This record gives sequence, C-alpha cells and structure tokens, in this order.
Amino acid sequence: MVQNNIDSLSIYIHWPFCKSKCPYCDFNSHIYENIDYDLWEECYLKEIDNFSYIIKNRNLKSIFFGGGTPSLMKPKTVEKIIEKILFLSNKNHKDLEITLEANPTSVENSKFIDFKSAGINRVSIGVQSFDEMELKFLGRNHSSEEAMNAISIASRNFERFSFDLIYALPNQSLEAWKKTLHKAMEIAKTHISLYQLTIEVGTKFYSIHKSGGFELPSSELSSELYSITGEILAKNNFNHYEISNYAVRGQESVHNLSYWNYDEYIGIGPGAHGRIFENDNGSDETNEDVDRLYATTMIYAPEGWLRSVKENSSGLREKIPLSKSEIFAEIFMMGMRLSFGMNDSKLKKYLDLNFADIVDVRGNKIFDKLTSQGLIEISDNNMIAPTKRGILLNNYLVKSIVNEAKI
Ligand SMILES: C[S@@+](CC[C@H](N)C(=O)[O-])C[C@H]1O[C@@H](n2cnc3c(N)ncnc32)[C@H](O)[C@@H]1O
Ligand code: SF4
Repeated sequence: MVQNNIDSLSIYIHWPFCKSKCPYCDFNSHIYENIDYDLWEECYLKEIDNFSYIIKNRNLKSIFFGGGTPSLMKPKTVEKIIEKILFLSNKNHKDLEITLEANPTSVENSKFIDFKSAGINRVSIGVQSFDEMELKFLGRNHSSEEAMNAISIASRNFERFSFDLIYALPNQSLEAWKKTLHKAMEIAKTHISLYQLTIEVGTKFYSIHKSGGFELPSSELSSELYSITGEILAKNNFNHYEISNYAVRGQESVHNLSYWNYDEYIGIGPGAHGRIFENDNGSDETNEDVDRLYATTMIYAPEGWLRSVKENSSGLREKIPLSKSEIFAEIFMMGMRLSFGMNDSKLKKYLDLNFADIVDVRGNKIFDKLTSQGLIEISDNNMIAPTKRGILLNNYLVKSIVNEAKI
C-alpha cells in the first residue's frame, strides 16, 4: 500500500478523569467515584467508527492518550482502541508512535507493563518536581520516590519515554531549579517537557494568587530560569525544539509535532478538538465542491459526551469550516513555536499561498522586517524559524505576522 504521498494524520483520545484535581490545572479533568468503564470503552470505539472514513484515507502517524489521567484507564480498553485504529489505518504498532500520559503513583506504575502489552510504545510521565515540598505545593498525590520509580520502570520497558516538570514556582531559587534539572538529566533518556507555572483562570491557584496567597517569580528571574534551562539541557545533548520541549535530535514527539506542523488530527472523547480537511460537497452558497479545513469539537462534559455517543452515536458538539484568516493565524501560531521553524507547505495546501506572497497591507515584505528585528531567520531551504529571541517573544512575533499580513 503506497501511503507516502497521503496526508499525515494523528489521533488524540481524551480520558477526562483524575484521582484528585491539581490546583494549577485547567484541563478537562474531573474526579468521579463511579465510572462505567465498559460504557466508556464502547463509546470510544463507536466514536472512532465515526471517523473511519478519514482514518482509512490518511497516513496515520501517531495516537496519543491524554487527559485527565489516562493511566487510570483499563489497559484492555487502551488495547481495544489501539487495535481498532490499527485495523482501520492498515498500520502496525511499529509504524506509529503510541503515547500514554501517566501519573507516577505506585498503583499506576504497576500498570506500565500492561499498557506496553496493550500497544503503548511511549509514556509521558507527569513528574512535576523531585522536591517533596514542591510536590505538596502543587497538590500532587505522589512522592518524589514514586516519580523516580516510574521513570525507572519506563526506562526499563520503553525505548522512548518523556516526563514533565513544572518550574518558576513561588520562592523557587535558581539554585533549587538547577538542582532539579541536574537530577532530571541523570535519568531522562531522550525527551523532556519543562513548563513554567502559569496561573489559569478558574483554578484554585487563580483565587489563591489573586488574594495574595503567593507570588510568582519576577519576570527577570523567570527569564533567567528559562535561559539556564536551555543551557543545561543543551550541555546534555537535549535540543530545545519547542517552547517547553527538549529532545535528543530525532526523538521529538511525533504526535505533538503533528500539531505544530499543522497536520490533520482527530480528537476523540470529551472536549477533544480536531482539524480535518475534507470536501464540503457544495454545502455553502456557491454550491461548488471544495476542500475545507474543519474544526471539530466534542461535547465538553464527560457525562454529556458519554450520553450523546450512547444515544445518538456521536459526541460531536461542533464541526465548522475555518476561515482563511483563522487558518493563516493557526499555521503561524503553531509553526513559530518550533526552533527549526516551518516551511510553506501548509500555506500552499490550505490557502494556496507561498511565503513570497505574504506582504503587509502596504505591500511591504513582512518577513524582511522581522528578520531585521532579529526575530526570525529564513534559510536557503525555504524554512522560516524563530530565533532564540523570537521564541521568547512568540506572542509578539505571531501577532506581528497575523495582524499585518494581507491575505
Ligand atoms: C495534561 S497535563 C497532565 C498529565 C497528567 N495528568 C499529570 O498530571 O501528570 C500535561 C502537563 O501539563 C503541565 N501543566 C498543566 N497545567 C499547568 C500549569 N498551569 N502550569 C504549568 N504546567 C502545567 C504539567 O506538567 C502536566 O504534566
Ligand atoms: S495535572 Fe494531571 S492529574 Fe492533575 S488535575 Fe490536571 S490532568 Fe489531573
């Protein structure tokens, strides 16, 4: 089967449950006592069927079980989901990156082998910190020892694994973060995600922070923490390939790269998003058949999604075609996160544009200006990449392109 010329696809499966709610987290994650595991399995499989016409006609690259805490899923359910997707895509396990996000409690650690047998070939572990006080502050229900144990099990059983840490915590000194990073570098294999703590509206931390319960590090200290992170990681052969992600070359997350490269993806489960390029069958006023990029959104509430799939065979809340300017903005929002940048293949595919066509409303070349400001670099192989400063000023960079471009 020749699939190389077919467009790439990835699939995201959202499991919306956690054992407890972390005070910083605004993901679609909930604590539930009674979960009907069989019904959840049935509904995931049903929803995958709804997208079989896409899965069959694309070059599937990755599956990602995210959450919530998907390490709380039954390995059998994970296996059935993977088997179904492999069958529809006509692929083998070894062709795909199949990741599962895991929390490092001892109960979940003991399930790693079962997840491997179910077809998972990469785990991403939410370690967050190796310091007990920091773990307590972050409301985590695992110890540093359990986190180390999870990494050690992952290291023995998976060729590829990653773990997450959160930094720029209240009162965290440069020295304390360096210590954590050195420890992380002793045990990381090929990939790590390092996030600065952000205070999200609606979280417990939001109200505590608002009422003066704690202060975040100053912006000077935050940028020092960020640059020391890059230095220590680089010394250990980890390339800073995305704002918060570092990997040994060639070991970047295939799944997350598919978002940043603006490939198509299917989102299954409560609140999951997707981007699908398909024919509109003349559904607009022109009555012409054209390919459009659709944004899909699933029903957000877990019970609502489950009920809808059970009763109506679909948990889809919305499927809307994106406008040209929305697609343009998303392509740059994603591409400018990557240190190796982007080419113009997605601009061509969705908007019939080249980099050379993009000028501002006065006809000036936008990319020349940003190059002279030291925010981007344009290479001979037609790649536009943000400089180190450009990555740091990502918001400004993307806004400049999106607001000024005449498309
Ligand atoms: C989907 S979440 C969680 C996965 C898993 N449930 C866990 O907690 O280990 C993925 C990662 O985002 C990061 N994260 C979530 N909220 C954050 C915040 N407000 N600030 C910084 N990092 C955050 C955490 O490192 C977390 O592991
Ligand atoms: S950080 Fe992870 S474990 Fe904590 S509430 Fe969010 S999804 Fe659940």
